[in-house]
Amino acid sequence: MNLIFLGPPGSGKGTQAAIAAKKGGFLHLSTGDLLRAAVKAGTPLGREAKGFMDRGALVPDALILALVEEVLAGGRAAKGFLLDGFPRTRVQAEGLEEMLKRRATRLDAVVVFAIPDGEILRRLTGRRTCRACGDPYHVEHRQPKIPDRCDKCGGELFQRDDDRSETIQNRLEVYHAQTGELIPYYRDRARVIELDATRPVDVVHAEMAKRLWSF
Ligand code: AP5
Repeated sequence: MNLIFLGPPGSGKGTQAAIAAKKGGFLHLSTGDLLRAAVKAGTPLGREAKGFMDRGALVPDALILALVEEVLAGGRAAKGFLLDGFPRTRVQAEGLEEMLKRRATRLDAVVVFAIPDGEILRRLTGRRTCRACGDPYHVEHRQPKIPDRCDKCGGELFQRDDDRSETIQNRLEVYHAQTGELIPYYRDRARVIELDATRPVDVVHAEMAKRLWSF
């Protein structure tokens, strides 16, 4: 299956993508994770992206499209891909369409995570992320077995620089101004599955799986 996970910051895209990718053997392509890895490695892309990410702005489309093209060309999406946090603009959506055409492949569905802004602030200020593998935790909803250590790889948990409340506000504004319009865009082009993302992780996953595999 080839899927897009679309929704505001903190709506649970990364959490659900990690579960679905593991179960289905899909390639989990998170542009946010790739950018954070580039920042950590100090690559030219990372150095260019950092300023945009720290203030909650979008990294320029051309950089993102080149990044996604490179990953898809790597041939790791034999069982399908799950795009988490991409596309985020109309230009990126059109760029993706071109990439898929060139590969004679298509999207199966776009999963939209719906959640009010107030709940997002609570989720993101409480989020802790594994420095090594990127797995998301939460101080209330998803605590690690050993404090401050990732259950999966033992890596250190930390708070992302862009999870401060001023930056979160900016990320939300950017989402509403530039990414929200992709929902009607995809309604005309693909199967769109809208989920109430305010419910617990396992409930959201169960409904998503049921609706994805029911066609
Ligand atoms: P990115 O890393 O993509 O961040 P985001 O879209 O803002 O999404 P998040 O990772 O913050 O949230 P999520 O929806 O994955 O939620 P999560 O599962 O972690 O992007 C970061 C930056 O990179 C951007 O601001 C931009 O600068 C740049 N960038 C990335 N892609 C780009 C692109 N395509 N174009 C341009 N720039 C780009 O969950 C959040 C928290 O809630 C966690 O603590 C989790 O444990 C908890 N949680 C999850 N689900 C539930 C639930 N059901 N109930 C209770 N708690 C839950």
